Formats: sequence, structure tokens, C-alpha cells
Amino acid sequence: MAASQNYLDRETSTSVAIGATYEGRDPALLERMLPLVDYVEVTLETISQVNDRGISLSGDIMRELKNIGKEAQIIVHGVSLSIGSHEGWSPTYLRLLDDFLEQVDVAWHSEHLAYTKVDGEHLGIMLAMPKTEEALDMVCERVRAIQERYGIPFLLENTVHVIPDCPSDYSEAGFLNELTDRTGCGLILDAYNLECDAHNHGFDIPAFLDELRHDSVRELHVACGVEHNGILLDVHSQLARNSTVDLAQEVVRRSEGSAQVVVYEFMPEAIPGLGHPAIAEQLRRLRAAFES
Ligand SMILES: [Fe+2]
Repeated sequence: MAASQNYLDRETSTSVAIGATYEGRDPALLERMLPLVDYVEVTLETISQVNDRGISLSGDIMRELKNIGKEAQIIVHGVSLSIGSHEGWSPTYLRLLDDFLEQVDVAWHSEHLAYTKVDGEHLGIMLAMPKTEEALDMVCERVRAIQERYGIPFLLENTVHVIPDCPSDYSEAGFLNELTDRTGCGLILDAYNLECDAHNHGFDIPAFLDELRHDSVRELHVACGVEHNGILLDVHSQLARNSTVDLAQEVVRRSEGSAQVVVYEFMPEAIPGLGHPAIAEQLRRLRAAFES
């Protein structure tokens, strides 16, 4: 489970590494991506399969990931831990993570600052946590438990707000500042999620960036979805817009060296529509944009 220090030590304040999501079973895409990325981000739920014994990691995909070897560092990005659920997080996700980390060295792992179930019911969507003192205490305790359990860096990501926030003790940035201050955990800032919140709810991105302490930002996400009935959807089906890349660049500049990688996120279902050449071109453009 040891974290490689190679990538952690090499960053400067003006350049960051590039990463991309990969969910397995597309060796031609992986072959195209590997010369263009430093990190491959894997979502464990997507590379798992259901069998008689429940849910487990796909042996085929695990072999693919192990074959990446030194060509790229692997980072894990979860979607179902539900760290913000009042009733408790998902032991199934932790079991998948235990299994994965026993087999593959990763630079860090991450989750969304969100909840996905209420009263035992899976919502089928991630909802942003209330920014209250009580919620902050709860999530901080869980972050510390995760940090102790795995002994590698753990990051949390800002999720898109599907519904407006309820009355809160903290602003969005204030909550993240307290969370990282109290636990030492890092942040993923998803630039597209910020743009969705601005479009859908009038979220004030400049004010958020002014209030956020950027020294905890370790990873950026860029992605793009579609607009439906006036709502900008977080579906990761398109190439990133220039505005999203510009926003990620602004965060990298403000992070003064703490941000280490920009990951282009796309769903496996979007790959046929995007095409391998366009994905490779997107990664080339990101490399050019984030070179010093
Ligand atoms: Fe993201």
C-alpha cells in the first residue's frame, strides 16, 4: 500500500501532471492514453462485478491495471462510500478498497463529499452535504478513520448541487477550509461541478475561490456534460469546454504548487460517441495548457 513519492515530489508551482479516467476493457484506449497521462484514475464500483458472493473487483480489469506498471500512477476515486450519510458509510465500498489496495500501489484515493443513501435507501445520486457544524464533526471523524485505516493521502471532492443548500453554518469554501484544517485531508476541486453550480444555482465562483484555502487542493477535475431543460448536467459525456480548463488553470495558479494533477473525466458510456482520437486530443490539449 506504499504511496510512490515520484510524482508527489516533482511538481512546480506552474505545471501539473495530467490524468484521465479509465474503467477497463478498452485496451486500445489505454494504449492511446498512456503516453499522454501521468495518472490513471479508477472508480472501483465501475471496475467491479456482481457474482454469487456479492460484489468484487473484476479480475480481468485488475490484470489490465497491474500491467500499467510504471507507465502511470494509479489513483482511486470512489463514488459510493457515502461519507456524508448520517446512518453510516458503505462497508461494501471499503471492502472493495481494501481488496484493491492490497493488489495495487496508489498515489492517493478519494471520494465525493456527499451522501448517497438515507434511511437505508440508496438515492441513486450523490447529494451535497449540509454545511453544518454537526455534519462537519461527523465527516471529520470519518476522514480521520479513513486516514488511519489506509495510511495514504485521502482527498474529498466538491460535488455538484442537485438541489439548493439548506440553511448552513458555513459557506461552501468555509466548510472545505474547516474540513481540511481539522483533518489534513486534501481536496479535489471539480471545475465543471463549480460551473454547473454557477449555471444552475447562481453559485458565485469568484467569491468561492477568494475564500478557499488553496493549499489543500491536490487534484483538479475537468469534464463536460449537457444542458437539459436549462439545467447543466454532471454527466461527463463531452470534451471539456475552454471555460472549464481556464477555471482549472486559475485554481492551479492559486494553489502555488499543491495541485499536482488535472484529471479529464469521462464515462465509459461516452467513449463511443467521443471516439479515441478526440479523447487523445483532449489530453494533448490539457498537457499543453498545464505545461509551465
Ligand atoms: Fe469530478
